[in-house]
Amino acid sequence: MKITIFGTGYVGLVTGTCLADVGHDVMCMDVDANKIARLRDGEIPIYEPGLESLVRDNVASGRLRFTTDATEAVAFGTLQFIAVGTPPDEDGSADLQYVLAVADTIGEHMQEYKVIVDKSTVPVGTADRVNEAVGKAIARRGETLGFDVCSNPEFLKEGAAIEDFTFGARIVIGTDSERVKELMRECYAPYNRQHEKLMFMDVRAAELTKYAANAMLATKISFMNEVANLAERLGADVEQVRHGIGSDPRIGYQFIYPGCGYGGSCFPKDVQALARSASDVDYHAELLTAVEAVNQRQKQTLFTKLSQAFDGDLAGKTIALWGLSFKPNTDDMRDAPSRVLMEAVWNAGGRIQAFDPEAMKECRRLYGERDDLTLVADRIQAVKGADALVICTEWKEFRTVDFDWVKGNLATPVIVDGRNLYDPQAVKRAGLLYFAVGRGDSMKVPASH
Ligand code: UDX
Repeated sequence: MKITIFGTGYVGLVTGTCLADVGHDVMCMDVDANKIARLRDGEIPIYEPGLESLVRDNVASGRLRFTTDATEAVAFGTLQFIAVGTPPDEDGSADLQYVLAVADTIGEHMQEYKVIVDKSTVPVGTADRVNEAVGKAIARRGETLGFDVCSNPEFLKEGAAIEDFTFGARIVIGTDSERVKELMRECYAPYNRQHEKLMFMDVRAAELTKYAANAMLATKISFMNEVANLAERLGADVEQVRHGIGSDPRIGYQFIYPGCGYGGSCFPKDVQALARSASDVDYHAELLTAVEAVNQRQKQTLFTKLSQAFDGDLAGKTIALWGLSFKPNTDDMRDAPSRVLMEAVWNAGGRIQAFDPEAMKECRRLYGERDDLTLVADRIQAVKGADALVICTEWKEFRTVDFDWVKGNLATPVIVDGRNLYDPQAVKRAGLLYFAVGRGDSMKVPASH
């Protein structure tokens, strides 16, 4: 099947590459010529495990190609996926200018029937707007051509995107057209062998499914962070509570890890966009607003704990920081809790000495060279000469720690753990003060301190 993908960002590149890998002929189009030139050489702009080699293999096989030529791109695929960015507007709503620009391009160049597939995360009603934009562009040329627009949201997690694309729980397609259903069935047939994963629904239901899924997951996290904050004040250990409630299959163990708040390119943006969509139809989405507010507050808690450990005076202190990315296995720092922490430390006159296995280049890109930011080669270097250690991301290599060594190398024996990685008793035995998230009495600072 011939498929065109507009946008070679995270979603577009994963979608195009995976579809090529199961035998489809895929053309990826982007307006960024530099990016396209690099992709042709098999160089990918993001860190995603397994993606680079998959891009190279499929480019080599001839099934995956890249272009900046819109005429060629529109002519190529029967399916035209729109996978461009929908950044938040100032008011939190999704900015659709890139999506609608692609719709216009498709309408301007198409010569035969096309299915336009909305892959980008877009507010309910966007398929109608895409439909209108394509129609207008065709009419401008004085032509009448058939086309359909459907919604096909993605549920990819960064760091596991190829696996999620290949073994995802469901493939949601919003359409009422039998012709579209047949073509989308053909497109996804290689992923639909084990059991029926295709879920056809109304286009608006498909659009809302994406937001509802992310908002539900974000709600679980904010709920658990609220419980953690309560546990901390009530003298209970939230990790024990997590086990206690997760064992109920109606609740489940997934997405109830308390921490320093959710980040990334989806949850913060999507929760806000959904709340905004609600207010557009005169509905105050109280719960969504609270989910977002709890998360904003949670991102501040690491600094509050750190500040508390130093009696409010961080001026001249060097803080070792393990983990910059918003979660492990990605170099993405969009809305990462580490950024809130670093910026608060800088404002308080402190310095950051950080290590991250993948995100240091991204950190440099975001913050540039500055005296109060040192990026070091490994986690050991980060601790050397620092006053305290803060953990923002649960990279695998941070899970086991020689606490005696850490104690010997930190000027002040303080660990602030935003991911609850360690046994509080083991940390304390080494003579360190342990500030985790919601771990009750175990975190009490001894009177002698
Ligand atoms: C998410 C959705 O999982 C995915 O289905 C959707 O397509 C895009 O958004 P992603 O942003 O890649 O994916 O990351 P995810 O693994 O879901 O984590 C999001 C954030 O939540 C991270 O900051 C993570 O640290 C945090 N999180 C996750 C918690 O704090 N606790 C948890 O229990 C789970």
